[in-house]
Amino acid sequence: MIKVLFVCLGNICRSPMAEFVFKDMVNKKGLADKFYIDSAATSNCNEITKEGIYIDTKNILREMNIPFTEHISRQIRKEDYDKFDYILGMEESNIKNILRIVGSDKENKVHRLLDYTEKPRDIIDPWYYGNFDSVYYDIVYGCEKFLEYIIK
Ligand code: 4NP
Repeated sequence: MIKVLFVCLGNICRSPMAEFVFKDMVNKKGLADKFYIDSAATSNCNEITKEGIYIDTKNILREMNIPFTEHISRQIRKEDYDKFDYILGMEESNIKNILRIVGSDKENKVHRLLDYTEKPRDIIDPWYYGNFDSVYYDIVYGCEKFLEYIIK
């Protein structure tokens, strides 16, 4: 079982989008039973208020026919480092904050999602920039390349 944790700042826009896009992708390839997939935040603010997936993320997922289930934001915990094989942040500031919470990355598990692509870069935060369409396409691109990397 390959365990993948997607991480962003708030765990209501990008990382749940990546969680459900990647779940759909592995499901369509008949690989669902090979993966455990989850998402988390670096901040604790949406865990405190028990926020669900943000409406614009839900709308993109619906538009693209990506199924999703109920999800409540949670902050990444130190023990997630041992539990997961891959901890994939959306942007450089996520990586810095993940490392602050889990400690050092001794097993080289922590990467940006788009670092698996030919164009390594940040997926910028749609909470501040409202770019949900381009975030969706970045996430699909990153998930496809990450899955290719895993399958190889
Ligand atoms: P996300 O976006 O990191 O893609 O989930 C954000 C959502 C909420 C907040 C920040 C970023 N917030 O400050 O509540």
